[in-house]
Amino acid sequence: MANVYIPIGTVSGTATAVAEALATVLAESGHSAVLDSSASVEKMQSDQFDAILVVTSTTGQGDIPSNLIPFYAQLEDLFPLQNGRPFGVISLGDSSYDQTFCNAGALMEEKLYELQGVAPVPRVTIDATETQTPDVDAIFWLREWMPKALS
Ligand SMILES: Cc1cc2nc3c(=O)[nH]c(=O)nc-3n(C[C@H](O)[C@H](O)[C@H](O)COP(=O)(O)O)c2cc1C
Repeated sequence: MANVYIPIGTVSGTATAVAEALATVLAESGHSAVLDSSASVEKMQSDQFDAILVVTSTTGQGDIPSNLIPFYAQLEDLFPLQNGRPFGVISLGDSSYDQTFCNAGALMEEKLYELQGVAPVPRVTIDATETQTPDVDAIFWLREWMPKALS
């Protein structure tokens, strides 16, 4: 059994709903998850988390949602090395934003790579113009990520 930390970045709640669906599947698979809409490095490093799974939308012009910015800033400032800890990023966006499509997830992934985390499956992008069921899409990705990240 693994324990997964799930930082959430959201403006209007879609990412939260997706994260909750992921937590259900993780629990059904014998794992546990901590969802956090006020994520912090302190929390990430405090408990014995086996993996990090960021679920974030993008806002503004390619920006990280304000509730996740403090976490991103801490990753930059405190530089908590992950030493090969597995991570995953689920990135919600809207492709009509073209140049900044799912940019917040890209920023999070880049940062976690920089901190020497390992992504057994690359970040998934979920496009609001293409799906009405982001939770189903995210679970599809999770089923690939889970056995590789939590083995
Ligand atoms: C004001 C605003 C700005 C947005 N900017 C972007 C953007 O730059 N890139 C992108 O891919 N999606 C963008 N989106 C789309 C959201 O990321 C997408 O609708 C997402 O599913 C919202 O999830 P949330 O409810 O968890 O915030 C924007 C949406 C809004 C309302």
